[in-house]
Order: sequence, then structure tokens, then C-alpha cells
Amino acid sequence: MPQEWLQRWREGRIGFHRSETHPVLRKYWKTLGVPVGAKVLVPLCGKSLDMRWLAEQGYPVLGIELAPEAIEQFLAEGEGEVSRYHQGYFGVYRQANVELWCGDFFHVHVEQAKEFQAFYDRAALIALPPATRQRYAFHLAQLLPPGARGLLVSLTHPGGPDAGPPFSVGEEEVHQLLAPNFELVLLETCPPDDRGLSEQVWSLCRRGPGRVDEGA
Ligand SMILES: C[S@@+](CC[C@H](N)C(=O)[O-])C[C@H]1O[C@@H](n2cnc3c(N)ncnc32)[C@H](O)[C@@H]1O
Repeated sequence: MPQEWLQRWREGRIGFHRSETHPVLRKYWKTLGVPVGAKVLVPLCGKSLDMRWLAEQGYPVLGIELAPEAIEQFLAEGEGEVSRYHQGYFGVYRQANVELWCGDFFHVHVEQAKEFQAFYDRAALIALPPATRQRYAFHLAQLLPPGARGLLVSLTHPGGPDAGPPFSVGEEEVHQLLAPNFELVLLETCPPDDRGLSEQVWSLCRRGPGRVDEGA
């Protein structure tokens, strides 16, 4: 699957990318009550403009993305000087209040993640095949301290569970994956588009204290 994503970026097959800030981020982020200045983790970030919006609202962002093309395009489309260096498995890039780590999300070590207080997942969980989603949910919980809040934008479509990415991840599976370590509330189910794709918006709060539960 990582090779498929790299290939997609090389070929410019990035239909998931939005040319504007996602309306549900604008609508719901402030309702989470995340204090301004809190660092926001954006896993599987692509070149999402949502990161720029969060940074403009006063939240330093750390995005994690596999494809160098995504990161180069994000930086080229932004303004401000770029600093680049290496840290562990990752190429690290910084432009204004956005830091991007180029590499595999599953290589982010808990020790590197101490300062996150919030997160934003749009099309990250649903980018992953069934067998990897449990690992993702567990890893995300490991990287966040108790009390961390975030938004999850998941997706359902009529293609069946094996069709994707994007994969259709229903409400029941979202609960099954995330409820062991997060309190979650479904905020909105967006009307389906002409292909039957519908996004669901969830508010999450990392449970705690205590160890991370690996779930079912
Ligand atoms: C569906 S796209 C969503 C991108 C972004 N969140 C957005 O809303 O535009 C999923 C992204 O995850 C990246 N990706 C897939 N697996 C990854 C992994 N293990 N670590 C980091 N990035 C990954 C892909 O390259 C792709 O850019």
C-alpha cells in the first residue's frame, strides 16, 4: 500500500485533495475547545490546506506524510522560508508554523510525540486497508496524551468494504477501532455526493489516564 500511495503522488492521481479548507474543519474545530497554541498532529496529511488554516488560527501543526511530492508541493504553494533537516527516519521540513515529517506514520515514536495536544484526521483512517486500521487507531492513541482532542472525518461509500482507497469505514467500525481509547461523538453525517460518498465528522477526546487499550 505505501508503494501505491507513492505511485499516486508521482502520477498526480490525488482526487482526495481539496483546493479549499474543509468546511467541517471551519465549522467544528473551535467547538473542541483546543487552546490556541496547542500543537496539532495531522497524520497522513498529504498537502492539505487544512494544515495552513489550523496554523493561521494559532495552532502549530505537525503533519506526517509518506510522499515527498506532497511535501514539496505543499511548501511550493506556501509562503515563507523553508528549513530542512533529518531526524531519525524522517526528513523534516518547516515553513512558518507548519512542520512536515516525510516518512511512515508508524515510525513516529512515542518519545517524539510528547508535545501533541490535539489532532486532525481527514481521510487518514479511511486511506488505510482493513488490516492496518486497527494498528493506526492504536498508534494514534499512543501518540496522544489523555485529554487530547481532535476531529476525525471518516467516509462511507457504496463500493463495499474491500474497495479503496478510500475505504468505506462505517460508524460501527469507527466505534470498534477508537472507542477503547477515545470518547467519541458523531457530529455530522454529510449528504452523499453524486458517487454516493458521504463523510462523517467525529469529535474525539483521548481517554485517560492509563495505558492504551489495544481494543478487540
Ligand atoms: C487520502 S490521502 C489524505 C491526505 C490528506 N489528509 C487530505 O485530507 O488531503 C492519504 C495520504 O496518506 C499518505 N499515507 C499513506 N500511508 C501513509 C503512512 N503509512 N504514513 C504517512 N503517510 C501515509 C498518502 O501518501 C496520502 O497522501
